[in-house]
Order: sequence, then structure tokens, then C-alpha cells
Amino acid sequence: MTWSPRSWREKPVLQMPNYKDQAALDRVIGELSARPALVFAGEARRLRKQLADVTAGNAFLLQGGDCAESFKEFSTEGVRDTFRVLLQMAVVLTFAASKPVVKVGRIAGQFAKPRSADMETRDGVSLPSYRGDSVNDAAFTPESREPNPERLIRAYDQSASTLNLLRAFASGGYADLNNVHQWTLDFVKDSPAAERYAETASRISEALDFMKACGVGRDSAPSLESVDFFTSHEALHLPFEEALTRRDPNSGRWYATSAHMIWIGERTRQLDHAHVEYAQGIANPVGVKCGPTMTPDVLLPLIDALNPNNEAGRLVLITRMGANNVREKLPALARAVTQAGKNVVWSSDPMHGNTVKTGNGYKTREFDKVLNELEGFMDVLYAEGAYPGGVHFEMTGRDVTECVGGAKTVTEADLASRYHTHCDPRLNADQALDMAFRIAESLKRVRANNSGAHAA
Ligand code: PEP
Ligand code: CO
Repeated sequence: MTWSPRSWREKPVLQMPNYKDQAALDRVIGELSARPALVFAGEARRLRKQLADVTAGNAFLLQGGDCAESFKEFSTEGVRDTFRVLLQMAVVLTFAASKPVVKVGRIAGQFAKPRSADMETRDGVSLPSYRGDSVNDAAFTPESREPNPERLIRAYDQSASTLNLLRAFASGGYADLNNVHQWTLDFVKDSPAAERYAETASRISEALDFMKACGVGRDSAPSLESVDFFTSHEALHLPFEEALTRRDPNSGRWYATSAHMIWIGERTRQLDHAHVEYAQGIANPVGVKCGPTMTPDVLLPLIDALNPNNEAGRLVLITRMGANNVREKLPALARAVTQAGKNVVWSSDPMHGNTVKTGNGYKTREFDKVLNELEGFMDVLYAEGAYPGGVHFEMTGRDVTECVGGAKTVTEADLASRYHTHCDPRLNADQALDMAFRIAESLKRVRANNSGAHAA
């Protein structure tokens, strides 16, 4: 069978919404097929090049954003705040690792969600599960929960507006490194993480002043003035992805133009299923989630299917084992991939394996567990001779109370005050920045131990 943007339709498919009116879905898909691409092939190639640097150990990947973007909470400020926290985290990591940080948002298209059950039951009433704003509405009424294809158009429109903002923030002066002090959000100003950030920012400003004095300024180093910022989401809704899959006239290759990078989720990564089929034919960077049930015999064929030519920069393995599993489950995978000589980026999603429900009914994640998984990830990969090249967070620039812990401790009792997520609990701006400092410390610690071990 030859690949086409619709060849996934011949395969078994999981996690698809049940649309009552197929003709309405087909009409919407037709309409989206005629809309402009959201991102361009050359940009996706640029990300692949940067991820090839990560694969080689010469750069670090930072990926983050909402679990699920929402129609209601869409605002310029929301996009800006997520963007600026990611910039701050990137600055901290660049400074610590002395390596470029590749910045990828879970944004401008992260709408469709996989669910553990098709139906949700409350007080004896069963309705279709909420599957993200591009599919249905979270309110628990029959009308809201009915999948409505028109929502795909709204998701496309919001993605286009979001990208427009991101492009302006990334290159319109806002991301100029000379503004490094101004990215701190008001509500984090009095936190320990913000104080540490201010110190780092001052050192960067001094370095910039020094460089200016030496004659290196905006004209000679334009990369100080703007950043490359890429978008990504889980390519779950395959009809939507199909509509935005376009052939690049320069290379003749197919690209997903819904985002620079897409990933395959933990629940839809079966080798002979539709989501893997779709990802096989596009030339973008592709991520695959690897949970605690992943084994080398499943992973190696999947790597071969998704990256048959073993190209660096194509494949990102996003591990999400849980703090209690990572030290036990990751070594076998890392060893198998390293021994087989596969070029991959190893990235850690320390969020999805550490979700718990509190006594008062909130889904939350503990800051220390998240950190613990990250540390386990780094220890294991270094021990196996592989490079822990990236991190993947659910986070927001807003002052929410969804994850517990962090320097300005959020307690279980605080969760009720600003619990805004549409899906999974996110780190707030302060926790995200704090996390960046902890990762920076871990990177330094593991690197120091490692070089000591090699010298011995
Ligand atoms: C997600 O990233 O929001 C997600 C659903 O992750 P996973 O597929 O790893 O469960
Ligand atoms: Co999530």
C-alpha cells in the first residue's frame, strides 16, 4: 500500500470522535483543505536541523504549554505569558548548559485529547467524554458533549491567530535578549525563583554590555534580537491533520502544516494503526510518547517505521514513566536504542506519569515527583551513555493553582482557588521557572559526575 495523507483510513484507529453527521465532517474537512497552511515546510526543516543538534548532544529541547488549549480562555495575554515563561526557562537552561535551547510550544493546535473512556457517567447519566475543544464542549449536557465538526474550523482559526501572535513576539522585538529583565511576570516578582532569575538576567545584561563594548551588537549578532519558536501538538484528530497535509513544492515531500512538530500519544502508538501510518508519510519532526508499558521489542520496530533512514532530528522519544517507574523501566529502552545505534532525541515528560487525585477530587501533580522523574531520567540516560536532550511540560504563564508544591508552595487546599485547566494540571509560571533552575542544577550535577567517572 502506498502512503497518502488519507491512507491512515485503511488502518484500525483509536480515540476518534463519533460524529453523527459524516457528511458535515466531510464538508468541514473539504473547507480546511482549501485553507492556507499554518506553518511551512522550510520551518519544519529548520526545526529538524535544530533537533539534529540535540541528538548530537549539542543543544537542549524545551517543549511546553497547555495540556489542552481552550476556546474560552484564548487571549493575547495568555499566549504572551506562556511565551515569556518559556523564554525565561530557555534563558536559565541556556545559561546553565552553555548550549542553545530549542523552543517548542504545545500551542497553536493542541486541542484534541485522548480519553481513557468513550463515555463519562455522572449521577447515572452517561454522555460522550470531553475530547478537547476542537471536538466538543466540556459542559456536561447532551448538546455540549455531541462532537461538532464546525469546532475544527474554530480550532484552525484560533491556531492561526495564535501563530500570528507568536511570530510577532518571536521576531518583533519582544524576545530581544536585551529585554531579559522584562519577561518576569508581575505575580512571580516576589518569589525565590524570580529572585534567582533576576540574578541570571543581570549576568546576561552584563555580558551583553561587554559584548557591545567589544563591538558585537544588534547588527553583527541578529540572533540576540529574535528567537526561533516552534509549535507542536498531538496529531490525534487525523481528519484534521489530513486536511492540513500538503506537498512541499521544493522537496516534493509531504508535510503536516498544522504545526512544526507533531507527536503520537501513549494511547495511539500501535505500529499497525492509523496514527503511526499517518506520521510515517510526513517529513516533520515526530515525537512518540513512551510510557511504562513500552518495551524494546515494541520500541525498535516503531523507530524503524517512523525513521527508516535513521536521520537525526526526525524522532523524539518522549518518556513519561512516572517517578516510581523511570529508574526501573527506562534503562532497558535506553540500552536497546543505543546498542542499535538509533538517532533519537530523548526527552522527558515528567507530568503524565505523575497525575494523582486528591481527597477533594482535584487531579494534581506534585512538584517534587515531577522533579524526581526528571532526575531519574537524566541519571539513567547518562548511565547508559545516552544524552538526556529535552524536557516536555504542561505549563502556563498564568497564576493558576493546579500542581502542588514548588518554592511558593501551592497546597492541596489552594487547588480550589485558581484551578482553570480544561484537562490535566499545569505548572504555573512560578513553578515552571523554579523547575528550569532545578533542571539546570541537575544538568550540571550529572555532567560533573559523568566527567568525573570518565576521568577516573
Ligand atoms: C498529553 O500529552 O496531554 C497526553 C495525553 O499524553 P500521553 O499520550 O503521554 O498520555
Ligand atoms: Co495532558
